Amino acid sequence: MRLQGKVAIVTGGAHGMGEAESRLFAREGAKVVVADILPDLGDAVVDSIRADGGTAMFHRIDVSQEAEWEALIAATLAAYGRIDVLVNNAGISGSAVGDPDAIEGWNKLIAVNQTSVFLGTKLAANEMMKTGGGSIINISSINGFVGSDGGHPGYHASKGAVRIYSKAAAVRYGPQGIRVNTVHPGYLPPMLNGTNANSRALAVAQTPLRRIGVPMDVAYGVLYLASDESSFVTGSELVIDGGWLAQ
Ligand SMILES: NC(=O)c1ccc[n+]([C@@H]2O[C@H](COP(=O)([O-])OP(=O)(O)OC[C@H]3O[C@@H](n4cnc5c(N)ncnc54)[C@H](O)[C@@H]3O)[C@@H](O)[C@H]2O)c1
Repeated sequence: MRLQGKVAIVTGGAHGMGEAESRLFAREGAKVVVADILPDLGDAVVDSIRADGGTAMFHRIDVSQEAEWEALIAATLAAYGRIDVLVNNAGISGSAVGDPDAIEGWNKLIAVNQTSVFLGTKLAANEMMKTGGGSIINISSINGFVGSDGGHPGYHASKGAVRIYSKAAAVRYGPQGIRVNTVHPGYLPPMLNGTNANSRALAVAQTPLRRIGVPMDVAYGVLYLASDESSFVTGSELVIDGGWLAQ
């Protein structure tokens, strides 16, 4: 029960890594708000958590919209009274927007992957500082450190921005007891919108541990940063990539 008594919001909690984090957090005693743009998948995750004896609710949000963040924060406070943990996990891959040179795709990636993290962090921090602090975990990527041939430049840019924005937020909110860290997953199963769909074999070959990750590999790292075990850790970067970035 490493999160006993804590209230946690997980964006993108309806699928993939966010789903794994929502389930793990609930098992560790947190009250979990599964926040996602997909209500059907999100409701199913919440039903399953409740069936296992956990506490969770679904809230629909488009994380690129500030008014929807305000509604999510209000709904969380109304249901559970406080916010201790925010995982800014929702994101889209470059393949969701196509043309790497079109301004529309660039703007969409920046809005969903980057601006969302700014909005969620500042609004959650405003509540966390009223209760003595909290932990914010922002999901970047190995692509927040390096570029790539086939990757969408907007994806790399958004994930790099999440990395350095989180350090600025860690410095800004540290005196209020709010920790802000980033997690950098390597190759994992394809995102809903198709990243890596045809490149599994190549990803395995390029990863020193010779496998791609599973969502729970990342969820355990996020759990550590969410829990009080990491109470002196802020502004840091947790890479969970099977050794890919070490090469
Ligand atoms: N899969 C990988 O290989 C990989 C690697 C590194 C980093 N990441 C990052 O990890 C995070 C989770 O990725 P995943 O693989 O679990 O992806 P996923 O596609 O399985 O899940 C992402 C979730 O975010 C939700 N979402 C998308 N846009 C949204 C919006 N505007 N508002 C609210 N919710 C929205 C989706 O509905 C989905 O449930 C993302 O930020 C992604 O960029 C993924």
